[in-house]
Amino acid sequence: MALKDNIQSLLGQVQEMKAANAEELEALRIKYLSKKGEITALFNEFRTVPSDQKRELGQLLNQLRQETEGRINELREQFEAKQAEADRLDLTRTPDPIALGTRHPLSLVREEIEDIFSRIGFTIAQGPEVEDDKHVYGMLNFAPEHPARDMQDTFFIEKEKGVQKPTDVLLRSHTSSVQTRVMTSQKPPIRVLCPGRVYRNEAISARAHCFFHQVEGLYIDKNVSFADLREALLYFSKEMFGPETKIRLRPSYFPFTEPSAEMDISCNICGGKGCSFCKGTGWVEILGCGMVDPNVLEACGIDSKEYSGYAFGMGVERITNLKYRVKDLRLFSENDVRFLKQFESC
Ligand code: PHE
Repeated sequence: MALKDNIQSLLGQVQEMKAANAEELEALRIKYLSKKGEITALFNEFRTVPSDQKRELGQLLNQLRQETEGRINELREQFEAKQAEADRLDLTRTPDPIALGTRHPLSLVREEIEDIFSRIGFTIAQGPEVEDDKHVYGMLNFAPEHPARDMQDTFFIEKEKGVQKPTDVLLRSHTSSVQTRVMTSQKPPIRVLCPGRVYRNEAISARAHCFFHQVEGLYIDKNVSFADLREALLYFSKEMFGPETKIRLRPSYFPFTEPSAEMDISCNICGGKGCSFCKGTGWVEILGCGMVDPNVLEACGIDSKEYSGYAFGMGVERITNLKYRVKDLRLFSENDVRFLKQFESC
């Protein structure tokens, strides 16, 4: 009855069969059920069994085979179910958050300036950053040897490699160059806003940079007066810094405007009482302006007897500092997300 014992011992093992993965399961199948498997061997042995025992042993053998197959299938289903669970997509799961980018504070402020002036009829004009002397200085009433070219610390572009001497190709040091381009290509009335990047050869520090951004404005029509300029700038200042804001114009000098002025606003940090930001004066300077010099109009082909105009120019960084109290200019160009993220809600 060795065969019967063998069958029964295998029957005992079947329910205990375990497999940690699909490979182990396949190994079990081979061990018991393949052509050379243990159960197949028992079936071969069965042929030699005397016929009076065939019935009992045959039944037992069939039971063993069925139970083995059943257990292996059971284990296989368990693996498949586990795999299906792992593969299942949970469509209700909230997705990983998408990191939100932020607008750059200089873009926010530039757009706000553009928006304020567009409400009083200004349109945007653009021009090249690599310019020629004529558009940046010549047509703007700078005499050929005028020191302003040095005062504005112009970056000249070498025509030939290694030739350092000033050429007439340069990086614009103010966006007034766009104004000369507009005046020479359009007929009055002209009412444009010229935003853009400008370059000056300055050592980089918390208070100066070799590039920054300006928004300049130009209005040319018949009978444009200094009072019109003042009204436009007062309107801008109140829109930008709040309705309580006051302005003050101080005489100044620019080659392209006559008369020229610098404009202060009442310090928006202390409300004009005097604080460390406004150095106790209650005022902070925000822009330069003036009536377009008749020489400039004539140089651009506009009849200065028929037309007059005003111009103004401001630094976007300066306005941004006032609005958001950014103390170090370098933050604007370092792209440090810890700085930029602070403008997420703006
Ligand atoms: N272009 C001047 C500057 O860059 C600003 C300015 C523009 C002043 C228009 C007066 C009129 O400093």
